[in-house]
Amino acid sequence: MSKLTRSAAWQALGAHCTTIQPLQMRQMFQDDPERFDKFSLRLDITSDSAGIVCQPSRMASSSISLVFDYSKNRINAETVKLLLELARQTGITKQVERMFAGEKINSTEQRAALHTALRNRSGRPVLVDGKDVMPDVRRVLGLMRNFSDAVRNGQHVGHTGKQITDIVNIGIGGSDLGPLMVCEALKSYASQNLRAHFVSNVDGTHLVETLKNLDAATTLFIISSKTFTTQETMTNARSARAWLIGKMGDEQAVAEHFAAVSTNLEATSKFGINPSYVFEFWDWVGGRYSLWSAIGLPIALFVGMDRFEELLGGGYTMDEHFRNAPLDKNMPVLMGMLGIWYGNFFGAGSNAVFPYDQYLHRFPAYLQQLEMESNGKGVDRDGNTVDYDTGMVVWGEPGTNGQHAFYQLIHQGTRLIPADFLAPLRSQNPLGEHHAILLANCFAQTEALMVGKTAAEARAELEAQGLHGEALEALLPHKVFPGNKPTNTLLFDKLDPHTLGMLIALYEHKVFVQSVVWNINPFDQWGVELGKQLAGKILPELRDATSASRHDASTNGLIDYYRNHR
Ligand code: F6P
Repeated sequence: MSKLTRSAAWQALGAHCTTIQPLQMRQMFQDDPERFDKFSLRLDITSDSAGIVCQPSRMASSSISLVFDYSKNRINAETVKLLLELARQTGITKQVERMFAGEKINSTEQRAALHTALRNRSGRPVLVDGKDVMPDVRRVLGLMRNFSDAVRNGQHVGHTGKQITDIVNIGIGGSDLGPLMVCEALKSYASQNLRAHFVSNVDGTHLVETLKNLDAATTLFIISSKTFTTQETMTNARSARAWLIGKMGDEQAVAEHFAAVSTNLEATSKFGINPSYVFEFWDWVGGRYSLWSAIGLPIALFVGMDRFEELLGGGYTMDEHFRNAPLDKNMPVLMGMLGIWYGNFFGAGSNAVFPYDQYLHRFPAYLQQLEMESNGKGVDRDGNTVDYDTGMVVWGEPGTNGQHAFYQLIHQGTRLIPADFLAPLRSQNPLGEHHAILLANCFAQTEALMVGKTAAEARAELEAQGLHGEALEALLPHKVFPGNKPTNTLLFDKLDPHTLGMLIALYEHKVFVQSVVWNINPFDQWGVELGKQLAGKILPELRDATSASRHDASTNGLIDYYRNHR
């Protein structure tokens, strides 16, 4: 048994779980009218984002708020106490400080994980190897401001003097999902004169379909890659370069139409990108944590640098909350520990995320990388195989679409799927009753998942519809909802850049909390390497029909079929 599963707090939670399992949340709500007040939090943020107040959700507020309702969970006060004991036992507070302090907590790569420094608005220095990184962070932010302003106001023009109308970000994973998700989320703040496109897939279709309607003379490419060696990105970048030169008929055009974001300045210069349009970041920024760095350049271009800085401000607000709030009032800690509760004690294998805000439609996809690449680990920090489950499968779609597709399985299927619901109080596109209908659905779903419908209630309904006897008995079991399905609800005023920054940082820290409990490194991703290595071996075999088969029978068969039939 591992140290974790042997620990007193883990054992206590295991025992406690057997007492919670039979309890119905519906009954818990009936027994305790204060349940919402007890199990919800509100973060109130004053305009300078320094005054962060944590208070019960019901209290009136005039400032920006983020409400976290976790009362519809299979918990009582004892559960929260035990979960926080587990968090304490694993040294969460110390680990949080180690991260913020720039210690090399990414031990397998000997790197710090300092995405928090990128949004540090405090003026406090942040040291890596004894050197304050903040002057460099501010310098690059300044360069991003100059460049994004120049493109947006038409000072930076294309090779033929035309204003840039389209930016195409070429990147993958963290160099794509973050900026793409944020640009979609903040679309309502975007410039009318600039469109943002994202090409990630090495499938030529992605690039070709994106470029189909673009005018090379008004298109700016941003090659985003931390390493600047990623096969998919470099392949797309080379093809984009060829397209541009082909259309413009002049290789010199590359200078005005290509920018790069990377930690590998040698490779960007080798690729021929004008050094004035190369934006640097550092190895202490993990790929999936990088949207706050120059990887956010498409965001700055699309919505403007002021908005980008507001996004950073939102991240900083959540950082301060995470660092300073006591564990029982700490959103990322509570959220992370609830995930552990279901994943490790109830055997839940997935966690759904349902944004009731169309602008957040790429948020679940973004969270998939954040959570699954970070916490999809099977050995602990000391290299021991873990004897407990780690990261959950994350998935989701915007409500109400999901309601008409897969919610059925959550309501009446056999698996326990804890779900997060996110919704704004105000729509950015008020249209008749749309927003009230949207939120009515959001609240109704969490209620339905929690209360379910008993056999007696279903029977009464069927009888009221005039059904009796055999027909009623046959239909009855299908009409029963077991309920007791856990959900969290996050409510915010509207999806502005600051709020979005808070939400992203909230999930980042939730992931970190879980990694601390599981004693795993959330900042490396060795699991993606094997596929890359094998693709490197297979590619020459696809090109050259004479190369020998060196794989298993299935892989050989597929390679041969491709070679013989394409
Ligand atoms: O292969 C996984 C990964 O390394 C991710 O962690 C990263 O976000 C992505 O590839 C892209 O890497 P890069 O920014 O270096 O091109």
